[in-house]
Amino acid sequence: MLRLITILLAILALAYTEKTVSRHEPRSFPDGFLFGTATASYQVEGAWDEDGKSENIWDRLSHTEPCAIKNCDTGDIADNSYYNYRRDVEMMRELGLDFYRFSLSWSRVLPTSFPDQINEAGVNYYNNLINEMLKYNIQPMISLYHWDLPQKLQELGGWTNPHIKDWFTDYSRVMFELFGDRVKHWFTINEPREVCYQGYAARTLAPAYNISGMAEYLCAKNLLVAHAKVYHMYDKEFRPHQGGSIGIVLSAKWYEPETDNDIDAAEEVLQFEWGQYAHPIFSEAGDFPPIMKEKIAAKSASQGFFRSRLPEFTAEEIELVKGSADFFGLNHYTTQLVYRNESVYEYHSSPSYYDDMEAVLYQSSEWTATGATWLKMVPWGFYKLLTKIREDYSNPPVLITENGCASREGLDDVTRLTYYKSYLDVMLDAIEDGSDIRVYTAWSLMDNFEWLQGYYDRFGLYEVDYNSPERTRTPRKSAYLYKEILRTRTLDMHYEPDMSVPMTIDDGH
Ligand code: NOJ
Repeated sequence: MLRLITILLAILALAYTEKTVSRHEPRSFPDGFLFGTATASYQVEGAWDEDGKSENIWDRLSHTEPCAIKNCDTGDIADNSYYNYRRDVEMMRELGLDFYRFSLSWSRVLPTSFPDQINEAGVNYYNNLINEMLKYNIQPMISLYHWDLPQKLQELGGWTNPHIKDWFTDYSRVMFELFGDRVKHWFTINEPREVCYQGYAARTLAPAYNISGMAEYLCAKNLLVAHAKVYHMYDKEFRPHQGGSIGIVLSAKWYEPETDNDIDAAEEVLQFEWGQYAHPIFSEAGDFPPIMKEKIAAKSASQGFFRSRLPEFTAEEIELVKGSADFFGLNHYTTQLVYRNESVYEYHSSPSYYDDMEAVLYQSSEWTATGATWLKMVPWGFYKLLTKIREDYSNPPVLITENGCASREGLDDVTRLTYYKSYLDVMLDAIEDGSDIRVYTAWSLMDNFEWLQGYYDRFGLYEVDYNSPERTRTPRKSAYLYKEILRTRTLDMHYEPDMSVPMTIDDGH
């Protein structure tokens, strides 16, 4: 009997070893899978007041005193991409990118915020960038809004003013008219949760308001309706002759219950944090997640409000927003643990977003740190998130629109190298399980202005030298890794880049 058990254990051990070994054989990406990198206008362009561009909320915040941003950094020059776009495209060619995701600066193209004036110099800049990319077969993927609202619109209430749906639709119409003949991939808004919660409630992004428990919900409703209006406008008026696709980019972490007692709390946090935006668009019922509506309504009543602090969609708006995306654009970076006990009521001020959620979120000290305090390396969380999206929303096409980490290791960025390998590895697991993932985007092509962190947190495949007037860009070890993955269309966990070989362009041009 003992002998039999020993043999059985040996067979099991062998099977396990074979599985781990085979998992570490190079793995292929599906045919047609696309790779790219991303940046955003305020984070790279610079030229903040040149050639007719007007002020946006990041210009305003970065120029306020005392400094709102680490080391008093500003995006006034940033990576100087307004002048360096040729070098940027050269880097895309070095990496062998299929596409590049970037955003348009609203205040650069429409200096009054409205379509009554179109700034030709701004339009030329984007035309030059797009045409240069297309010359080398690199597809442009454009975000219409990546956080740099014209200051004038902010003074009118920004995303808390319901008229923003018209302002955003008018702006988007002009962009489709100007660039839609060549741009076939559009994103309306980047990371609504960050726009609304961080901008209007947490003071951690421009306009840096702290009206929590109220403003972030008004913002969410207006933003979703604005997004949906633009989706339908593109669908009806532009898609028939331009033939592209359009969706939204949501930021989503994975939320892991600390113990079995916290399973409901973790699910509720997830529904607040990104279900708030995903449920209205991707669920069959539409509207905000039921749990969110219930919790905020009950809490508002107990606090003496005459109505829920969460605004309601009309029946017409629910229908407008439902299904308003051709794909699920996903930015994912990290995972958090969730617990709920009596202490949560002491933890958060009231009314506030986290008080409504009634949970505490944190990261385990055992998880691998990266170069940004909030961002620990937790690849299994990415796998669970992709599984959840597949299961909850009938397996939508998913475009990974951002993934990556910061590192403080200079050119020899082994942490980032490990991060990319391990996150791509679990993404392939999810694909094997049936997830319809079509695109992967590394954040970022190069170091750039990391919002309140200024130039302190470095996310680039290319390092940018902020002491050089040219903002010289140099490939890091992770750039070599990414290039090899794109060249071979496989992930080899053992691959170690040789940085002594110069980065070259292999696209035959
Ligand atoms: C998501 C945002 O879209 C991007 O602007 C930011 O730099 C990265 N996260 C890294 O924090």
